[in-house]
Amino acid sequence: MTDTPLLFTPLTLRGVTLPNRVVVSPLCMYSAVDGIATDWQFAHLSTFARGKAGLVFTEATAVEPRGRITPVCLGIWTDEQAEAIKPTVRFIEEMGCVPGMQIAHAGRKGSANPPFKGGTPLPTDNADAWETVGPSADPVGEGWPTPHALETGAIAQIVEDFAAAARRAADVGFKVLEIHGAHGYLIQSFLSPLANTRNDAYGGDIQGRMRFALEVTEAVRAAWPDDLPLFFRISAVDGPAEGWSLDDSVILSRELAARGVDVVDCSAGGVRGAPAFRSTDTGAPLQSRGERPPGFQVPYVEGVRRDAGVKTMAVGVIFDPQQAEDILQYGRADLVALGREIMYNPFWPLHAAQALGTDPDSEMWPHQYAWAVKRRGEIAAYSAASKV
Ligand SMILES: Cc1cc2nc3c(=O)[nH]c(=O)nc-3n(C[C@H](O)[C@H](O)[C@H](O)COP(=O)(O)O)c2cc1C
Repeated sequence: MTDTPLLFTPLTLRGVTLPNRVVVSPLCMYSAVDGIATDWQFAHLSTFARGKAGLVFTEATAVEPRGRITPVCLGIWTDEQAEAIKPTVRFIEEMGCVPGMQIAHAGRKGSANPPFKGGTPLPTDNADAWETVGPSADPVGEGWPTPHALETGAIAQIVEDFAAAARRAADVGFKVLEIHGAHGYLIQSFLSPLANTRNDAYGGDIQGRMRFALEVTEAVRAAWPDDLPLFFRISAVDGPAEGWSLDDSVILSRELAARGVDVVDCSAGGVRGAPAFRSTDTGAPLQSRGERPPGFQVPYVEGVRRDAGVKTMAVGVIFDPQQAEDILQYGRADLVALGREIMYNPFWPLHAAQALGTDPDSEMWPHQYAWAVKRRGEIAAYSAASKV
């Protein structure tokens, strides 16, 4: 153990230094218009920058229209879409944080309603619906439309769409890029034997099922500047024993690292309608999302880091500053990402720095707030003392 909290120790990846190791996990906002960012994206992401997270990721940003989850998801298949996110990128950097973009293709989980409208598939005759695509003509679950199984020429086009998205993201100033290879979306549906039943070069054994993910990675790495880091989000496990396993994730992570991926971001599940997680203590299935214990995905990230020898990012029910610090101190991951907790408290990094004793004088706060927050601390201390 070292004295300085690792959470607030900068981390350099290629030519980019993250000021701390707190990351805002990609969070879909379902608030774009024709894939174009609105004021909501600016307000949402700039709040985390005021909260001083080291790296602020955009939500899953689609590389082509069919790559959106819903009609109101963010996209980066046009220059207009890229331009619209530029003020957000600029503001994140002004706050001393690093702007990152997650690029994605929803595959057979696209053409859906946002979760706050049920998350159900749009009826196929809805004016906003589209024909979804996947590795095979198998729907993601009951009630979901049958996707169109991609031909090899169409796969090559999507690989190029990912590369074009990477170029646009670099052009507007993003400094970190993440490929979304998790949660049952297109890339993971190619990886998983639960979704990929092809018998051509893109299916079959793990080498075939990894082909699409690795082609996307190679194309993106070639399009994304050499001095900027590339992350890849995996679902470390699918759930059922016959699905994608942690051993498969280690094999994939080694291949990703060999192709220039700097950090593997370890999530889990999503290939079938609802993720089927198991308790890491008892092996018993977790019946509901509410049953997921703190850090329930950390054993996966730890396994990938140890066995594939890559840098990793932990995510999933990381709520408490000391919990986050321990994940880093015990070498279980190199970065920690927060989703729901940082939505609940966008100033989590600033509060964590105070809780871990690194920022007793509120100097990490934006200077517009710092002097007043410091005064607030003095008043609070005085009030507490005068009650005694
Ligand atoms: C509202 C919401 C939107 C999300 N959108 C994305 C997304 O765009 N891309 C992604 O990879 N994961 C997405 N996730 C998953 C989160 O990035 C994160 O992995 C998950 O919420 C677990 O972390 P948490 O327990 O800190 O929330 C989303 C989660 C939430 C709650």
